Amino acid sequence: MSALPTPKSRILGTGHYVPEKVLANVDLEKMVDTSDAWIAERTGIRRRHIAAENENTSDMAAAAARRALESAGLNAADIDMIIVGTISGDSPMPACAVHVQQKLGADNIPAFDLSAACAGFIYGMTIADQFIATGAARCVLVIGVELLSRLLDWQDRTTCVLFGDGAGAVVLGPSEGDGRGLLATRIFTDGSLAHALTIPGGGTAEPLTDEGLAKKRNKVHMMGQEIFRTAIKNLTSASTAVLKASGLTSADLDWVVAHQANLRIITQVADRLNFPMEKFVINIQEYGNTSSASIPIALDEAVRDGRIKPGQNVLMCALGAGISWGAALVRM
Ligand code: ACO
Repeated sequence: MSALPTPKSRILGTGHYVPEKVLANVDLEKMVDTSDAWIAERTGIRRRHIAAENENTSDMAAAAARRALESAGLNAADIDMIIVGTISGDSPMPACAVHVQQKLGADNIPAFDLSAACAGFIYGMTIADQFIATGAARCVLVIGVELLSRLLDWQDRTTCVLFGDGAGAVVLGPSEGDGRGLLATRIFTDGSLAHALTIPGGGTAEPLTDEGLAKKRNKVHMMGQEIFRTAIKNLTSASTAVLKASGLTSADLDWVVAHQANLRIITQVADRLNFPMEKFVINIQEYGNTSSASIPIALDEAVRDGRIKPGQNVLMCALGAGISWGAALVRM
């Protein structure tokens, strides 16, 4: 094995939050023409968590962030920057991150949103790593959070069965020179597939009108099969790219934490990477697709229950609307 890259940043702590309310597949059977069997077989999803009426995106983000700070042994005053990966912030303006800053009681540090859909967390870690590498920031809070249940058409069975609400967070800080940290990250975008997954209405191109609202133009529209095929190909190539950049092969990996969009996508990526499914952290059955929150939720669960241990090599990969995708290889 060639010499590993020297990490500049490492994960100091992880945390997640999911709302209490659970919506099971059998509940969806009463809402749309679907079945528990179809959803479970085609996606792996059994349940998803749905935010309470009085709960907003920034509330979930702040809850996950507090847990990440606590596990890092830090408090809000130690943070230099807050990056929130989300496509479902509290409002179009200002950024969700500004509410998170206030809820955490952080200083006047930069706090901004990052719109890369399901890849938002990988994008966020990539940016945080660069700030830490240059010394411009010491500790960065990276959050992935989505409250997609309010952006779904609950009469459209092709989308409403797939998504759930939740938040995950990590605190990144400087590496200690012991080889632990972010070994490599790679991020990509292919805007030629922008049409495949959109919320078409509500922006400058299509301001909302009564007609647009009636046509649910402010809700998620997805060409599922196109995304499905692209996800398998691009998650594999991005994962291969970070392995190569790190001088590692899949045989050197301990765990893969892939975006939880569809269990069949993950199975096919496992096949192509020649890496056993038992070493993928899977929680799609419980949460569905929580977009940018899915990787940090799964990561935190696996760290807290002792599956992921210090010193292990963990590959993360995600793809979503844009389409945007990426991967990160971390020595924990
Ligand atoms: N229940 C029952 N039947 C359904 C449902 C449902 N919930 N949804 C679709 N069907 C039907 C379809 O109408 C179709 O019926 P037909 O054959 O009579 O036309 C049949 O099931 C098969 O539909 P497909 O779309 O071919 O089903 P597929 O196996 O492709 O699964 C799915 C659909 C789950 C959406 C899959 O394509 C997928 O996971 N795509 C990727 C999603 C993804 O990764 N998104 C990116 C991240 S999200 C983000 O960035 C925010």
